[in-house]
Amino acid sequence: MCGIVGYIGASQAAPILLDGLGKLEYRGYDSAGIAVYDGKKIQVKKAIGRLKVLSELTHDGATMPGTLGVGHTRWATHGAPSDLNAHPHYNKEETIAVVHNGIIENYLKLRKKLTEKGYEFRSETDTEVVAHLLDYYYKGDPLEAITKVMHRVEGSYALGILFREHPDRLYAARKDSPLIVGQGKDGNLIASDVPAVLKYTREVYFIRNEETAVLTTDGIAFYNMDGEEIVKNSTTIEWDLNAAEKGGYEHFMLKEMYEQPKTVQDTLKPRVKENTIEIEELSMTEEEIRSISRIHIVACGSAYHTGITAKYVFEGLARIPVEVDLASEFRYRNPILEEDALVLIVSQSGETADSLAALREAKGRGVKTLGIVNVVGSSIAREADKVMYTWAGPEIAVATTKAYSAQLIAQYLLALKFAQVRGRLTAEETAAMLGDLKKLPGQIEMLLANKERIQKFANRYIAAKDVFFIGRGIDYAISLEGSLKLKEISYIHSEAYAAGELKHGTISLIEEGTLVAAVVTQKDLYKKSMSNIVEVRTRGAFVLAVTNVDNTEMEKAADYVIYIPQTNPYFTNSLAIIPLQLFSYYVSVGKGCDVDKPRNLAKSVTVE
Ligand code: F6R
Repeated sequence: MCGIVGYIGASQAAPILLDGLGKLEYRGYDSAGIAVYDGKKIQVKKAIGRLKVLSELTHDGATMPGTLGVGHTRWATHGAPSDLNAHPHYNKEETIAVVHNGIIENYLKLRKKLTEKGYEFRSETDTEVVAHLLDYYYKGDPLEAITKVMHRVEGSYALGILFREHPDRLYAARKDSPLIVGQGKDGNLIASDVPAVLKYTREVYFIRNEETAVLTTDGIAFYNMDGEEIVKNSTTIEWDLNAAEKGGYEHFMLKEMYEQPKTVQDTLKPRVKENTIEIEELSMTEEEIRSISRIHIVACGSAYHTGITAKYVFEGLARIPVEVDLASEFRYRNPILEEDALVLIVSQSGETADSLAALREAKGRGVKTLGIVNVVGSSIAREADKVMYTWAGPEIAVATTKAYSAQLIAQYLLALKFAQVRGRLTAEETAAMLGDLKKLPGQIEMLLANKERIQKFANRYIAAKDVFFIGRGIDYAISLEGSLKLKEISYIHSEAYAAGELKHGTISLIEEGTLVAAVVTQKDLYKKSMSNIVEVRTRGAFVLAVTNVDNTEMEKAADYVIYIPQTNPYFTNSLAIIPLQLFSYYVSVGKGCDVDKPRNLAKSVTVE
């Protein structure tokens, strides 16, 4: 995710661009930049760090004259955060400036072609190919050049573009990344999201996929990919600014839960070509993959929970032994690391102190390390031998949801890749499993659509004192995360137990009315888990079950059943966690807790 803005009108552009970027900082904040055109020169200023660095550099925009401009706040994907990689990017003569949100998937191919034609690249970004490609196609008609570029690039984009030869025009284009146009009183704007324009207007147009827009001070025109003009109606935005920043959702956590279908899709798509898995960044030869003797997954909190699921997946599919460690334990336990071991460090922030220390410990012992990280250019991303990014975008709510989902997908893909290379999965089996993975985004959407039912159920438990989560195998891993979500945001005591372990102590805590959430998605363990449900029910527990759609027997065993759609048993975590996230969220809302910023917790734990 990144945020883009653009303005053309009667006022000085730079302060308006900076103000708009401030409203979009939740979309990315590792660097920012603006390009402003005063009719003579397109002046570009960029700065690594938060937006305030750029604001200081430009004296809140005062030093940049001109009434036409574009701006960008970055969440790095291709190329670490730096002044050079910050947007806007431009062509060699600095006559075309571009800001971009999205990912150009075929940028390497395009970069190679453009380099062969003599274009020189200054940054490591995918965006820069757009600037040079526009230069290549531009023969006096910007719209024609933009349309040609749209035909050539693959992936997602929202673009804001300036052409020096057209001082009275602001250009925009979109595919699969959000982009709106705001119709202001003294000028018009583009932005990735509504909050950036609300100060100036409530009249907005939504640009659809593969459409372009041309803005002048007092006019807005839209075109399709054939260059034909399209007529659009504007929408009046009724939300207040606070709601708008959260895309109309009450909390960032809810918004981020709703982003999960996209997060899963974004993490999956670039690595699945037809029916094969290509994890370019892994850059391990088949021989190296075959020689992995053991995988150590090391992480904290929710990321650690994804590792527990991944252990079942790696061991089940690839038959590679896996150890999962809490990073804070791993670093001090003097672990035995074989020469051919692979250490996976899983971290959303890439800055968690214990995970970073564990990474250094593994590297110090000469073992291969792979980071599964969300924040590009973070410490773990920089220091790990290899890094596989989860494309979840910035996660604002302290309790992770979408990054967790993306971490699962990254590890499923690795497990499938390893299993295939090691001859444990045939091409047909891999294709079938990839088919299941591709269905996950749609299935997650379906589960999210069921939120009212879960909300009603959650409202009954806002006064609960203790809640237990039980499950076996992968269902135990899901239970751990379900339990953590509940306790961290609702402050209700909760524990996760391997269902078979309950009777070795914890069952004494079950009394009349205690809520037990049972996760039962592993077909071969249905019977065993059902007996554990009976055990707690006979002691008075109220059982909420999360199970597969075909397990209708559960109606008799549990008090309340939530079904998840059919998928491969290795992937059920991605679905079963959705109702559990919603449950925690609604309990927290019902109790009036600070959902996005629970007490005592920080988003990135940079202390031991
Ligand atoms: C829980 C949560 C934490 C993090 C943990 C690791 O909702 O967010 O448990 O998962 O602090 O953080 P990262 O992934 O940034 O290393």
